[in-house]
Amino acid sequence: MFIGESPQGKRVGLPASDLLTHAVVLGRTGSGKSGLSISLLEEVAKSGANALVLDPKGDLTNLALSLSSEAEFAKWCSDPANERLTHGAGLAQSNLTYRDVEDWRRNVNVTIYAPGKVSGGGRPINVFPTFACPGTTEQVSRARASREVSSVLAAVGGNEDAYSPAVVFLTEAILAEWSRKRPLPIEQWPGVLSKPAEHLRSFGGMALNDFFPKGKRTALARTLIGFRHQADRWLCGEALNLAAMTSRRKPEIAVFSMRHLSEEDRLFFAGLLLNKVVEFMFETEASDKLKLLVALDEARGYLPPYPYNPPTKGPICTILAQGRAQGIGMLIGTQNPMDLDYKALSNVGTWFVGRLRERDCARDLMSELASRNVGIDDVAEMPQRSFLLLDRNGGHRQFQTRWCLNYLFGPMSGGQLMRLEPGRTPVQPVFRPPPPPVQSVPTQSAPVVRVKPAPVAMPVPVPVAKLISYSEVLLPVEKPTVPWSVRVSDLLSNLGAFLMIAMVALWLIGRFS
Ligand SMILES: Nc1ncnc2c1ncn2[C@@H]1O[C@H](COP(=O)(O)OP(=O)(O)OP(=O)(O)O)[C@@H](O)[C@H]1O
Ligand SMILES: [Mg+2]
Repeated sequence: MFIGESPQGKRVGLPASDLLTHAVVLGRTGSGKSGLSISLLEEVAKSGANALVLDPKGDLTNLALSLSSEAEFAKWCSDPANERLTHGAGLAQSNLTYRDVEDWRRNVNVTIYAPGKVSGGGRPINVFPTFACPGTTEQVSRARASREVSSVLAAVGGNEDAYSPAVVFLTEAILAEWSRKRPLPIEQWPGVLSKPAEHLRSFGGMALNDFFPKGKRTALARTLIGFRHQADRWLCGEALNLAAMTSRRKPEIAVFSMRHLSEEDRLFFAGLLLNKVVEFMFETEASDKLKLLVALDEARGYLPPYPYNPPTKGPICTILAQGRAQGIGMLIGTQNPMDLDYKALSNVGTWFVGRLRERDCARDLMSELASRNVGIDDVAEMPQRSFLLLDRNGGHRQFQTRWCLNYLFGPMSGGQLMRLEPGRTPVQPVFRPPPPPVQSVPTQSAPVVRVKPAPVAMPVPVPVAKLISYSEVLLPVEKPTVPWSVRVSDLLSNLGAFLMIAMVALWLIGRFS
């Protein structure tokens, strides 16, 4: 990969496979971190690998701006002729031309997604877990169910870890359904929490009410109903399919623009997306070539040090620890090194250190620099776009980042995404059809009832007018089929009551007339 030039004007390169041991980009605001990440992602795609880009601020969404003609520039600036010249001059400094920009555009598919947004620019994307039966071994299924339950519970405000009663209870409920080849989508959770089946009434010899008291279960069921009420916007659009994405001939860059989301929603979405990466990591074949790079700009809050544990931290740690063998690397950028958990970063092989001050640096980073004979003064005065590359072999080199092929327009807002695909029609909200009611798992002595596997609850677009109320979706009102004998006995008892009243009335009339 061509990443920049040395102070002597020599080309500085880095093998794409170095990103298998992950990379971190550090530097104060304006040091050029996002520019460096964009040129690294351009090179990753050139090498044939794919990328998922989490973009909280909107800078990496500039990867959609491989502009070359004046007409294309006119959409993004007020003086297109001048801006095109300036960009061309920058490209020339790195021995690049508009021909390179056009080649890149032709050879790479870039898609900008805007999760949780039902109208306006950016494509909708659905990464919400379906809790459908995965068909893998029990151990893998358990880990997956537990991860997905934790990420949903994190979204409803519970900072639950894998050992919390809520996660253990719901994981067991899901595994019981999976063992019968059935999904247990979130719509059914309130029912499972308020009326637990027989096999969920004790945990490790402890009565359910001692392990996970009824009051807490009811409170969680209520919160889940409220959450599901608001969740339609996450269920719009195509489902993310990483296996399909990584097997296409043309490399793909999927950018998830999150500027329009609140801080909590960003963490929620990123947690779900990163869980999908972990799932893919366990399913995909081993590879010594970079298959997928997961980039995260402005990582503050996503991988914080102990004791913080947002829904993103678990999957990031798993990818950092195990991604390498499966061809999955991470690129993490942040302004302040103190924002990151250094324990999790002990596997990172490549560091790009831009302008930093001593008081911004964690002790571990200082010792990393010291071990390579770099003093903090060497990085404190670094100009914009200058970085120190600490490579995986223990060496270090200073370089100036190469000019990005894409036009750096700056942070792209949700509204500005409209300029990318103006022809797209707004997405309608969707709902998941109410799943069939949960049936309790039969005991061993009872005959096994063969139930036709329920269809996986996938979001189905429906016209708005056809949307049914949430109470119907969440709490399907069961109309019990009453046996005829019960109906006859009801009738007889009603008739008896009627005769009694009639006799009392006749007696009263006789008495007072
Ligand atoms: N590789 C590059 N090619 C062309 N211009 C660049 C490049 N890198 C940085 N720049 C210019 O420098 C400006 C600041 O860089 P950048 O946005 O990457 O900084 P940053 O470190 O990500 O800042 P922040 O932390 O505020 O996001 C960019 O707006 C762009 O104009
Ligand atoms: Mg930036």
